[in-house]
Amino acid sequence: MLRSLRNFRWREAIPRMIADFLIVHFSMIAALAISVVSQTQAGNAAAAHAIVSGFLQYYTAFFWVLSPIFPLVFLLNGFYTHSRAYVGRYKALIILRGVALAAMVFFAANFLFFGSEKVGRSVALPFMVLAAAGAASVRILKDFLEKRYFIKSKTTPSLAPRRDWVLVVGGAGYIGSLLVEHLLEKGCRVRVLDSLLYGDEPLRPVRNHPNFELIVGDCRNIQDVVRAVRGVESIVHLAAIVGDPACEQDHGPALETNYAATRMLIEIAKGHGVSRLLFASSCSVYGATDVEMDENAAVQPVSLYGQTKVDSERALLDAKNDTFHPTILRFATVFGLGYRPRFDLVVNLLTAKARQEGVITIYNGQQWRPFIHVRDLVEATVRVLESPVRLVSGEVFNVGDTRLNHTLTEVADVIRAAFPNVRVEHIDNADRRNYRVNFDKLVSRTGFRARYTLRDGVEEIRNAFDERLITDYTDLRYHNQRYLKAVGSPVNKDEVDGLVMAAFSNHRQNPKVAAAHAPSA
Ligand SMILES: NC(=O)c1ccc[n+]([C@@H]2O[C@H](COP(=O)([O-])OP(=O)(O)OC[C@H]3O[C@@H](n4cnc5c(N)ncnc54)[C@H](O)[C@@H]3O)[C@@H](O)[C@H]2O)c1
Repeated sequence: MLRSLRNFRWREAIPRMIADFLIVHFSMIAALAISVVSQTQAGNAAAAHAIVSGFLQYYTAFFWVLSPIFPLVFLLNGFYTHSRAYVGRYKALIILRGVALAAMVFFAANFLFFGSEKVGRSVALPFMVLAAAGAASVRILKDFLEKRYFIKSKTTPSLAPRRDWVLVVGGAGYIGSLLVEHLLEKGCRVRVLDSLLYGDEPLRPVRNHPNFELIVGDCRNIQDVVRAVRGVESIVHLAAIVGDPACEQDHGPALETNYAATRMLIEIAKGHGVSRLLFASSCSVYGATDVEMDENAAVQPVSLYGQTKVDSERALLDAKNDTFHPTILRFATVFGLGYRPRFDLVVNLLTAKARQEGVITIYNGQQWRPFIHVRDLVEATVRVLESPVRLVSGEVFNVGDTRLNHTLTEVADVIRAAFPNVRVEHIDNADRRNYRVNFDKLVSRTGFRARYTLRDGVEEIRNAFDERLITDYTDLRYHNQRYLKAVGSPVNKDEVDGLVMAAFSNHRQNPKVAAAHAPSA
């Protein structure tokens, strides 16, 4: 207790304690006004007069003396520490609890020291309600203003202190490049480890930012990873061979990158005292199902890509301890414009085809998918990163928005609304993927809700074509599998990397991976 008080940032806390002190006084005076007005309106002018005269005596002689109890109890409740950065419903709950406790202590002290000298119930009750509402609303207003106008504390940036790095592994990709930009805007120091499979263009907007560092390296190479994690507080692990077709292209590199490298990263991160690791998994781990899936539902991946995500999830959750806090983020399918827009994802691809060719083909139109705009996904990821550890450590989150579960036929309808002349063809094939996903847990822990609809994303892509920001959506760099097929699979730097990866691939929970690495007969 003494140690934490010694490390406590008094200079930041004192103005906030004074603000709470003033709120408490304002609430007491406002409660008196409410009580007097209601008595007067009920025709009890004498009672109103008695309340006022009794109150003046009570306020000046007793309330002033006891009122510091409120900020003191708030202090002991952790209202003034940054690690208690609660959000949404949780924040309101914590504040209500703190105010109720402070009021109880206050009235107990009042009774103990001043006996019968107290305010009547008609003042005490509105006082408690006003104090709770006041304490909650100034905090909500402050959060709103900070977010709205990007206000940052001079001494405590919203995420990590200045000396700490956030490492984004795979930060040059579709999601990563926007995440990096967003983290930099929030005042973080951001390091990227990426092998630049698809080039460095997505990172050009941030390349000269003073808080940005790029390590061009492979997450399968132990030296690159050790170099990248030095001084790092949190990791967001996005690097992967992404998508079913890209993984099917060449199993070896897919298994190494998506699974063995995750296990190696866990060990190195733990060894270097990294506190948090957010892992990009996928809602595709739910496979083929007709019911809405939440995080407790059984996973049943129908592809190698999905299987590598499930295996990495398990390895991460098994690794959680008191100092290492992994969090699994099962991303919905992304759409929208970024610095590396992918046109191998259904909404972007269909929009591009509608714009360029005037005809789109919908395969298995009744199948459900959860969608999310790439900027919303970035916002949700940062919210998890900013959440108190106890709310997210060792937890799995579906990342998306329940309102953005759509059938593929609905996707076609949205595209038809943007391109009225488009011709839509429907075909059924053997693709069994079908999943509708529940995102309530993310909302309740982080307050996240998507800002962009499918229609916003479709119009954004259409405008990008109109403004010639994108000219040829068939360009290989927009398609993971086709690109890897053309340039060849990413090979290891040297033989040792292959041996290290083979060692991390062998795992009892992962028969598929072990089989792929077993010596052939
Ligand atoms: N985009 C989606 O719809 C979606 C949906 C669910 C999950 N995810 C997950 O989110 C993450 C990011 O997806 P994305 O769409 O940005 O993919 P992306 O293909 O655009 O980016 C992947 C990045 O990882 C890098 N990378 C690949 N292998 C590497 C290696 N061995 N070492 C270092 N870097 C390497 C690539 O260079 C690239 O910059 C992935 O883990 C993916 O599985 C994406």
